[in-house]
Amino acid sequence: MPVAASNPLPRHVAITMDGNGRWAKTRGLTRIAGHKAGLAPVRMCISECGSRGIGALTLFAFSSENWGRPAEEVGSLMSLFVESLERELAELHAKNVRMRFIGERRNLPVRLQARIAAAEERTADNSGLQLQVAVSYGGRWDIIQAAQSLARECSSGALRPEEITEERFAGALALAHVPDADLVIRTGGEQRISNFLLWNLAYAELYFTAKLWPDFAMADFEDALTFFANRERRFGQTSAQRSAASGHAS
Ligand code: FPP
Repeated sequence: MPVAASNPLPRHVAITMDGNGRWAKTRGLTRIAGHKAGLAPVRMCISECGSRGIGALTLFAFSSENWGRPAEEVGSLMSLFVESLERELAELHAKNVRMRFIGERRNLPVRLQARIAAAEERTADNSGLQLQVAVSYGGRWDIIQAAQSLARECSSGALRPEEITEERFAGALALAHVPDADLVIRTGGEQRISNFLLWNLAYAELYFTAKLWPDFAMADFEDALTFFANRERRFGQTSAQRSAASGHAS
């Protein structure tokens, strides 16, 4: 299928990196070895987004529900996040990447909280790729924390309930600083949202692949972008309306 020139790059790509455990199992390795192998496609996606001019990338690294995994795996994942930040931060900063973490960070080990704060501070003035890492994140958690913060403003008298518009609500969510996700990629064969960015993917194109995350290569990322470029995004309107609005023949 040809790439539709009228529908170019997504502004924001969000990825559920699934399949590390199965990748490891088929090789007789530990699950954490699978998570470590998942760092290579993380680097590839950051680099590809940067070089292609995709403005924002959000990676689902650890969900609210992942706390229920065996303690050893949770502990190893937390250590992996700390070590990755220590090792990669200088290069990410040199690449002008702005890093943010989204999720309930009070639940994270203190040493990880400190690394996150340092990474966010160091890259705060960077103007390149906006990289969000979702850790201890759930879409429902995000909506609840936004509702609570707006409710606090209402009860203090700073806000009236009827002033809560979609824009204001979106502004209270963890991803207030980036456009909604245009393209969601999920590896590992499951076709579910699994409590990822519920609000922010209202109009996202969903791309599912059976590839396990550690096997997700540059060509696979390219396939996802081609899929996106060939989608007709109507945002609830008709084809004819969208064509007229964009000045293209349908
Ligand atoms: C899901 O695969 C993957 C995770 C819960 C961890 C993802 C984390 C990484 C790839 C490391 C990324 C690190 C940074 C700093 C961004 P799974 O374990 O559910 O796989 P399975 O479905 O095969 O069991």
